[in-house]
Amino acid sequence: MAGRISRQFIDELLVRVDIVDLIDSHVPLKKTGANYVARCPFHTEKTPSFSVNRKKQFFHCFGCGASGNAIGFLMDFSHLNFVEAVENLAAFAGIDVPRESLNHKTAPQKENLNDLYAVMRQAAAFYVEQLRSGIKAIDYLSARGLESEVIRDFMLGYAPDKWDALAGQFNQKLLIETGLAISKGGGNAYDRFRDRIMFPIRDKRARIVGFGGRVLDNSLPKYLNSPETALFHKGREVYGLYELLEKNPKPERILVVEGYMDVIALAQFGIHYAVATLGTTVSPAHLDLLFRFSSELVFCFDGDKAGQEAAWRAMEPAFSRLRDGRKLGIMLLPQNYDPDSLVREEGVDRFNERVQAAKTLSDYFFQHVSEALNLSRMEERVQLAIKAGPYLEKIPAGMFREAMQARLKEISGLTRLDVSKNKATLRTLQGQRQRQEKGRLSSSRVAIALLLQNPELAKIVEQKEIDWRGLEFSGIDLFKNILQVILDNRPANAAVLVEIYRGSAEEKSVKALALLELMVPDDKIAAVFCDALDRLLAQARSIGLDRLLVKEKTSRLDRQEKELLRKLLSNK
Ligand code: UTP
Ligand code: MN
Repeated sequence: MAGRISRQFIDELLVRVDIVDLIDSHVPLKKTGANYVARCPFHTEKTPSFSVNRKKQFFHCFGCGASGNAIGFLMDFSHLNFVEAVENLAAFAGIDVPRESLNHKTAPQKENLNDLYAVMRQAAAFYVEQLRSGIKAIDYLSARGLESEVIRDFMLGYAPDKWDALAGQFNQKLLIETGLAISKGGGNAYDRFRDRIMFPIRDKRARIVGFGGRVLDNSLPKYLNSPETALFHKGREVYGLYELLEKNPKPERILVVEGYMDVIALAQFGIHYAVATLGTTVSPAHLDLLFRFSSELVFCFDGDKAGQEAAWRAMEPAFSRLRDGRKLGIMLLPQNYDPDSLVREEGVDRFNERVQAAKTLSDYFFQHVSEALNLSRMEERVQLAIKAGPYLEKIPAGMFREAMQARLKEISGLTRLDVSKNKATLRTLQGQRQRQEKGRLSSSRVAIALLLQNPELAKIVEQKEIDWRGLEFSGIDLFKNILQVILDNRPANAAVLVEIYRGSAEEKSVKALALLELMVPDDKIAAVFCDALDRLLAQARSIGLDRLLVKEKTSRLDRQEKELLRKLLSNK
């Protein structure tokens, strides 16, 4: 599977496949007007709010906010990553995915990755052998109550107490690149992991991407982890996911714990649904990864103060990921226990009960934000609303967000007011909302959305030969950016254009604009766009002009600004 997939192939694929056919083969669609509809596959609903637009080659659910092109649909529906979704879509279209030739720059790097994986695999096998052939490490693991089955399943090993156990037998350059060895200059290296129990970290395709190593006594650091390498990104991997999926590819829930030993002890007790973050806080990438395999995540934290703070830190990135149908729980452990010690003391049943009884995110959240507030006082209820509001705004539109907002109204007592629009008390939120609403109707939004949804309109803009200097309107950067991307890439439709933005800073805005229902009949699109654009340019000129005129009065214009002023005045 070497080689990258080219941008061009992805664009062509999106043009070749009709999203209506694709989705219809997974979720039967019904035609209504210009759209095809169904009950949304991403949340539970009685009446269909999931709609697929053939012209835009885009789907959107008005209920839960899920949206995207054909690739996005497969990623969400079939729990695939980007490359897998492209491969799957190509298979649907009956074509092979060509990989970019191995002759140019990317090639040596790709081959190199395979070499890196190979050395990781060999090192892990070596560590396993070392564990078996000695007694010290095995004794340690038995003293910690580990049985041979989990030791094997988790491929535990032992790094001998030597500086060159690996460095003496493998390619030193590869060892350094994988972080298994540390360079001492002149191309020489010594082993990073010495006299430690080794925990290989595998990605979901069974490739070893990193290691954790634990000392056998009380010395420090207790755990040493692989550094960030071409293979290993702590913020993106979790420990135990491969082993979990081996036992159960579709877990009902995933428990997120803190330590290597926790995952392994739980597995030994038959709790095969735990993974651990690698000594880092939970990242949005972790959440995306885990939600791909299960719609329910339960986070497990120590009951002490540090644990509670960690729990809150873990929740913060989660709000933006909580689409309808996804569930988050928080489980706080009794003081001085971790899952390893707790399951050993209380047994599986009691532990499972605790998982079942985990606090829901909603309970946890409202409890946390109202802590230290006296809700019998009106002022503090308002404070609560101000504190909670921004988090709720991050939840994707849908029933869960509405329910959370309703709950906030209830607790804050601000029942007769729409909490998120309450003028007197919630200026910040109000400001946000107003900006959104004003934006929705502006010529700028209409123009940008039309351009995005009908990339062929770029020709009209091109013909106008607009001199952008001195023009100002909200969204001007985005407009110019989209225009440039269209002129550079000539995308055939909105879905292809949106695909180009995947992973970029503009992705969210671009997607939102692609979804905007403008209700413009096909034969009027060019005219409406010209009109919106003219209005926008006039507005932009006058905003730019006002700014210069004000500046002229209060301070002085430099030569460039004077020239701009002249230009704008003459254009009017
Ligand atoms: P803990 O200190 O709670 O370790 O760290 P643990 O998992 O209970 O380990 P045992 O039971 O003492 O063997 C939790 C996790 O934090 C990371 C590791 O991922 C560890 O599993 N950690 C901890 C480090 O990366 N480095 C350290 O020095 C300590
Ligand atoms: Mn422990």
